[in-house]
Amino acid sequence: MTSLFINAKRIKIRSAMEQCRQNTLKLFADMDYATFSAQPDSEFSPVGWHLGHIAYTEALWLLEKSAGMSPLFPENRKFWAADGLPKAQRRKLPQLADILDYLEIVRNKVFDYLEVSPLEEQERFWWFILQHESQHCETITFVLELQKLINNHKNAHLSSNQTISHIPQPMIEIPGGEFQIGSNAIYAMDNERSPHHLQLDTFWLDAYPVTRAQYGEFMAAGGYENSQWWSDGGWEWLQTNLVKQPLYWSDDAIFEYHPVCGVSWYEAEAYCNFVGKRLPTEAEWEKAASWDMTTLSKRSYPWGETEADSNRCNCDRHFGETTAVGSFPTGVSAYGCHDMLGNVWEWTNSWFDGYEGFQYFPYRGYSQTYFDGKHRVLKGGSWATYRWGMRCSFRNWYYPNIRQIFAGFRCASSAKM
Ligand code: AVJ
Ligand code: FE
Repeated sequence: MTSLFINAKRIKIRSAMEQCRQNTLKLFADMDYATFSAQPDSEFSPVGWHLGHIAYTEALWLLEKSAGMSPLFPENRKFWAADGLPKAQRRKLPQLADILDYLEIVRNKVFDYLEVSPLEEQERFWWFILQHESQHCETITFVLELQKLINNHKNAHLSSNQTISHIPQPMIEIPGGEFQIGSNAIYAMDNERSPHHLQLDTFWLDAYPVTRAQYGEFMAAGGYENSQWWSDGGWEWLQTNLVKQPLYWSDDAIFEYHPVCGVSWYEAEAYCNFVGKRLPTEAEWEKAASWDMTTLSKRSYPWGETEADSNRCNCDRHFGETTAVGSFPTGVSAYGCHDMLGNVWEWTNSWFDGYEGFQYFPYRGYSQTYFDGKHRVLKGGSWATYRWGMRCSFRNWYYPNIRQIFAGFRCASSAKM
C-alpha cells in the first residue's frame, strides 16, 4: 500500500471516530447523576458504566495492545472491564465530568498513535473499536428507554377497542440456489468471517417487517392467552413473565404501520405460528438482503456498496424511533425487500455460532463465549444502530427471552402462501 493511501485511511478512521464520539457525548448532554447511574433492568449496566467502558476498551486495544503502552489507571481495570464486576456492582460511578475527562485523555493519546499506527497490521483494531463504541451507544439508548418506561408507567395497560383491519403482507419469492454468507471486509467482525458459499432452497420472505397493526391482530385473537401458538419453551417463558404485549408497544394509530418493537424471540415465534409461517434462518435473511441475482454476487448493503445513512434506512438515531415500514424505497434489496437494514433488529431462527475456521478477534469474549447454543441471531440493525455497524453480514445475538433491545422480525415460508 502506498503511503498516500494509508494517510487517506488515517483521515477516514479519525473522522469516523470523531463523528461516533459526538453522538456518544450527545446522549449524555445535561444528564443528571440519577439517570447516569440508574439500573432499570438487572440484565444491563447503568448508562454511565457503558461510557467509562468505552474509554477503557479503547485504551486497552489501541494504547496497550496496539501501541504497546503500559496501562492507564490500572487500578480501575476491574471496574470498567466487561469481565470485572457483576452488573449490580456497577452503580457506584464517578461523576459524568470525571468520565468525560477519562474519555478525552484516552482519545488524545489514541489520535497521536493513529498518526504512526502500522495500519497494514492494525487496521482491524481501529474498526473494531469504532464499532464497539457504536454498539455500546445502542445499549445506552435502550437502557434510557427502559428508564422512561418505568418513570412514565407508560405501557401499563392495553386500550380495549382496537379496530383491526386485515393488513396484507406481500411475500417475495427467493429462488433456490447459490448464496455467499459472511464478509471479509476490513470492518467485518470475527463472527462474520470467512465468507463462504452455500445452497439454499427456494423460500418466501415478508417484504416488510411485521407491523404493530399486524401484531395487534395476534393480540386481539388472544395470542397471549392461548398456548396453541407457542412452543413449549415459549409458553413456559410466557407463564413466568406474564407478558401481555410487546415492551415498546403503543396502539396509537400513528404507529400502526411501524414495525412491532420490543418482542422476545418467543413472541416472534408465536406470531409466525399464528399466521402459518416461520422465522427465516440467518442465511435466508442475508440472501434476501444482499444477493444480486443478476450478477450472482453479494452486496454489502441491500442497495449496493454505498454505506448506510438515514436516507436509505432508519439508522443513526436520526429519527429517534421506529418509522413506518417501507419508508425508504431507495433502501430496497435486489429482491425487493424493504427495511432490511435499520428500523428494528430482526430475529432469525438461527443459533449464534462460528463459521467454519472461526478465529476470534480481538478476544474470545467478543463472540466465541456466546457460541453456546443459547443465543439467537438477529440481523439488520435498528433505528438506534450507527452506520458503522450496519451491513447485511453483521450478526447480533441475544438470549431468546430478551425484549429490551429494539427487536422485531419478519416471517418466512418454505411454500408459497
Ligand atoms: C453484540 C450487542 C451482543 O453488547 O453484549 C460490546 C456487543 N461486546 N462489548 C453486547 C459488545 C463487547 C454485544 N452485542
Ligand atoms: Fe464492550
